[in-house]
Order: sequence, then structure tokens, then C-alpha cells
Amino acid sequence: MTNLENDLLLRALKGENVERAPVWMMRQAGRYLPDYMKLKEKYSFFERVQTPELATAITIHPVDQIGVDAAIIFSDILVVPQAMGLEVQLIENKGPFLPDPIKNSEDLKRIHIPDVHEKLNYVFEALRLTKKELNGKVPLIGFAGAPWTLLCYMVEGKGSKTFDQAKAFCYTQPELAHQLLQMITDTTIQYVKQQVKAGADVIQIFDSWGGLLSPDDFKNLSLPYINQIIQAIKEEVLTIIFAKGAWHSLAAMAATGAHGLGIDWCITPAMARQLAGPSVTLQGNFDPAKLLSPIPVIRKEVKKMLDDFGGHHHIANLGHGILPNVPVAHAKAFVETVKEYGLQRTMDPLHS
Ligand code: CP3
Repeated sequence: MTNLENDLLLRALKGENVERAPVWMMRQAGRYLPDYMKLKEKYSFFERVQTPELATAITIHPVDQIGVDAAIIFSDILVVPQAMGLEVQLIENKGPFLPDPIKNSEDLKRIHIPDVHEKLNYVFEALRLTKKELNGKVPLIGFAGAPWTLLCYMVEGKGSKTFDQAKAFCYTQPELAHQLLQMITDTTIQYVKQQVKAGADVIQIFDSWGGLLSPDDFKNLSLPYINQIIQAIKEEVLTIIFAKGAWHSLAAMAATGAHGLGIDWCITPAMARQLAGPSVTLQGNFDPAKLLSPIPVIRKEVKKMLDDFGGHHHIANLGHGILPNVPVAHAKAFVETVKEYGLQRTMDPLHS
């Protein structure tokens, strides 16, 4: 393992006391950055994802330009369904489109658990190259979608506010649903293990649609599969679970032994801490839309967030991905305020 110049994120995830909270932003690479938009004019989404040199450049932009304390590899959660044999398209201004989604047991025969070396080697190449280019500056985060969130796209075939077709699939064909979730889980375990071998210091599992499920359904359809992934890797790498909206299961998620839990802005840090228990590190939870506020408001609200989390066992982040219409100066103000105020408040005896 390389020695890192800035290992705040790793220390925060291990529960160590840190000078200040580390800061990064979900979906920090791309979308709102002018250099990304330039590459977008020249190369398609999957060209950007599958060309290690491009993915590496995009991954490093926010480290150099915004000053975040971690890099997250530029890729997408949907590369896993693609590797399992489903066609995935990305339609400009509309999002993901899977023309032949899974609807029944016949469809399930079309997909398989792939050899990740063969199908997803470009991700491992990108991680290796990024690790080299970062040269120990900040840690590198690898990631995967949670099985439930991937099932949502694989069954619904596109984005949705409710993912009701995906839910209907689970409620009407539960055995098939669990079979699919297990196939995704088995693929994901191989996938994230290879990401670690290729240099990922942390693995984050994105369950973006976990909060669409009732607490009971989350415990049935999502948590057991996230748990399998965490059990398979937690001894070899630091792990974060971000299950948006699934605050009701913070205690159960902490019980998996994950090092960090992401929370969104619909729960207070105090409530999340009470539910998650004292030891796990919490990550979040700035409302991404609040980055559209005037900069002085952003600064004030970031300070409040840091105070509310109380200084330790906290990774400053947004409560979901950064929005494409956020001005770069606002993203910078978010990161700079965490850095300045975080240091100030840990040095101020009134705050400790
Ligand atoms: O920091 C980063 O941007 C790292 C790379 C990253 C992307 N997607 C790149 C991307 C990560 C971590 C993701 C995760 C992802 N992808 C999630 C989980 C996180 C979340 O936001 O909930 C989900 C649900 C997806 C699926 C997905 N991919 C959607 C819904 C879309 C279209 C809408 C959008 O986000 O713009 C994508 C496409 C996508 N993935 C883009 C990027 C930069 C935009 C496409 C483009 O730039 O052409």
C-alpha cells in the first residue's frame, strides 16, 4: 500500500480522531465541471467510462480543481448489468435505458454471472492508472450499486420516481427476484474484490433507491444482499453503505460492520447518530440543491452541518449526488468551508 499524503478519509472511516472532517461529494466527477463537458462533446458516455486514460483524467479533475479529500473512480453502477449481458444505453438528457429488461424466468436465462476480469477489466485498468496518477495525494474510492438498486434498472428498464414495475416484479415473482438479487450480489462481490486489488482504498455501495422500500421490504430485498457484499470485503477494505432514505435501517446497516454509513438531508445528524450507534462513521448530509444558494448561505449552512455532526466520526458530503447545474464556485465554497471551519472548530476548545 502506498503512503498517502492525505489519509483523512481512511482515518475517519477507522473511527480515529481527525484534525477535521474529510470532504468529498457524491458524483463529484463530471456533469458540472467544464473540463468534463469538453470531453463529453468528443466521446460517448461509455467511451469515457471504458477508456482508462479518459476515466482517470475525469476522476482526477475534482481533486485538482475542487480540492476534495478523495477521488471516486469515474464509472457507473450500470456497468454491472451490462457485464451480466443486458444492453444498457445512456440517452442524452434522459438517463439510462435498457431496451430488453428482465420481466420473467425466460429473461433471467439471458443473463449470467460474468468473469469480471474479462468484462470489467477496463474499470480495474482505470483504477490502476488513477492510483498511479494520484501518486498518493488522496485515497481512491471504488464503488458498486446495491443489488436492489441494480434490480430496479434491470427490471424497470429506465429511471423512475417509484420503480413500481421493479416492485411489482418482486411482489409477484419473489423467488425470481431473489434469484436475480443473488446473481447481482455474486457478480458484485467479485467485482469489488478486484477493485480492491486494482487499488481502491474504500468501497462505497450505492443503494440510491433503498428508500423506496418499506422497512420490511428493505430488510427482505436489499439489506441481506448488501450484507453479503460487506461481509465478503470488510476485512480487506474500508466500506461505506449509502442507502438513500433508508434511515429506518441505520442500526441494521451498522450491524453489518460497514465502516461508514451515508445519510441524506431528510434526517438530522443527531437522529442518525442515535439510530446508528456511537461507533460507525456517518457521511453526509448536505442537500445537493442547497449548493444553488448564494455562497454566503452555503458557507453558513455548511458550518451548521459540521456543528450538528459534532466533529468526529464524520465525513462531510452531500446527501445525494451533486446536481449538473451547480456552479463550480459553489462546489468549491462547500469544500473550502469544510476545510477552514473544520480545522478552526477542532482547535477551538469551546467546540471540543
Ligand atoms: O463522481 C462521479 O461522477 C463518479 C462516477 C459516477 C457516475 N455514476 C457517473 C455518471 C457514479 C458514482 C455514478 C453512480 C450512479 N449511477 C448511481 C448511484 C448514485 C446516485 O446518484 O444515486 C446511479 C443511480 C446511476 C445511474 C445513472 N447513471 C443515472 C440515473 C444516470 C443519468 C442521470 C445523471 O445522473 O446524469 C447516469 C449517467 C451518468 N453516470 C452520468 C455520469 C457523469 C451522466 C451522463 C453524462 O455525463 O453523459
